[in-house]
Amino acid sequence: MGLFVKKSLEQLMATPEEGHGSLKRTLGAGSLIALGIGAIIGAGLFVRTAAAAGAHAGSAVTISFIIAAVGCAFAGLCYAEFASIIPIAGSAYTYAYATMGEIVAWIIGWALVLEYALGAATVSISWSEYANKLLGGRIPFEWCHSPLEKAIDAAGVTHQGVINLPALFILFLLSALLIKGTQESATVNAIIVFVKVAIVLVFIAIGWQYINPAHHTPYLIPANAPNATLPDGTSYSYAPFFNHGWGGVLTGAGIVFFAFIGFDAVSTAAQEAKNPKRDMPIGILGSLVVCTVLYILFSWVLTGVAPYQDFMHAGKEASVAYAISTYMHGFGWLSTLVTIAILAGFSSVILVMLLGQSRVFYTMSTDGLLPKVFSDLHPKFRTPYKSNMILFIFVGLFAAFLPESIAGDLTSIGTLFAFVLVCIGVMLLRKTNPTMVRPFKTPLVPLVPILGIIICLAMIISLPLSTQLSALAWLVIGLIIYFSYGTKNSKLGSAGDSLPIASDFEKLK
Ligand code: ALA
Repeated sequence: MGLFVKKSLEQLMATPEEGHGSLKRTLGAGSLIALGIGAIIGAGLFVRTAAAAGAHAGSAVTISFIIAAVGCAFAGLCYAEFASIIPIAGSAYTYAYATMGEIVAWIIGWALVLEYALGAATVSISWSEYANKLLGGRIPFEWCHSPLEKAIDAAGVTHQGVINLPALFILFLLSALLIKGTQESATVNAIIVFVKVAIVLVFIAIGWQYINPAHHTPYLIPANAPNATLPDGTSYSYAPFFNHGWGGVLTGAGIVFFAFIGFDAVSTAAQEAKNPKRDMPIGILGSLVVCTVLYILFSWVLTGVAPYQDFMHAGKEASVAYAISTYMHGFGWLSTLVTIAILAGFSSVILVMLLGQSRVFYTMSTDGLLPKVFSDLHPKFRTPYKSNMILFIFVGLFAAFLPESIAGDLTSIGTLFAFVLVCIGVMLLRKTNPTMVRPFKTPLVPLVPILGIIICLAMIISLPLSTQLSALAWLVIGLIIYFSYGTKNSKLGSAGDSLPIASDFEKLK
């Protein structure tokens, strides 16, 4: 049993050229940036901005975005170095297998389940909120909320959530699409990205005129801010350290961090990049920069149009549509348009997340760390259909029975953890392979990775204790599976360092 057995870099780098019918290298830097933006802009911006502003950061949620962006930029620089050296799929899992050994790779792969599977669940819950908004709130509260949520309607009647059916519906639809092999072509993705970015820009441009400066004063939530009333009628206090001032801004960063998740998805397209060594760093860092600028402007406008207190009750769900219809009179049409665009945008994020999850499981399965069922391909569609079906059930359970905030925080913690390990990986690789050719070098090593680790850890600490404990439990379950299954079935672990890695990856396409 070789817990720290590593895939050699030579094997990894030989892979893209090895397989039969290699992927076509069609993506340039521009398409890669578009791919990143397609995976990045989603529920984080359109739902969590309001959640973070309402409960923790107030209008200073803009600063929360900057903190989260800085953490992502440091981690992104480390990702970029790996993606330029190892331009093949598998992302952080693959990088860890090459640098830190099998058990760390397993832990990252397991954390990526939180990122991708729970990320898909989170965005599907947000999809459900906006879909219901589009339908004029016709879906009864009980059937579009988890059992952990309740609300009191205008007549004073309390409603308790039962199951989130619309979230299950969209997951089912997109899982079926994935099984059929329907893939977002660069063109379809570009259209969705165009619509998403256009909607954000239109909201910023029109909303700017509706900013009420009083909503931005004071900028941070004061410690003595009056309690807010939640939809279930209970009272919410801003007094605790993480609910106001700078503590609130930091918690806000942990919450809106979700909005940046997905830039690492660019690294999974390395095998399709025309010039991966140059374009991967541009794709990863470029999409991050574009999104950061949009997020800061967007959150400035949203918290200027609607006071942050609103987002604790009325405006919590579908916050953008709420802000437009409540405060931007005469722009009802925009509210509907925004909702439709956001639904399309959410769908593309869910699709990328589900695809990313099945890709990671596929690679882990071909490495022997997961059962073969996760890499069985459909005889006709050539997609890992069994994996997609199992994932639908798994992701669906979370989407149906958890609120957005819990699923989203778990997604963030899993991703932050993976980022920390990638930052560590870059430093290790500099030590173990100091002379290797690095087409893109993370600047100022070890300062940049260390700062990345510190900021990501700070965001992990600011997340709720229940999230931290759940993530810990998830890690323990993962280790139990690894020691009872992975160590016995690992191809690399049982055969030394000589096996070629999963060169069949391109069959997924
Ligand atoms: N960043 C993606 C979103 O906000 C996951 O939906």
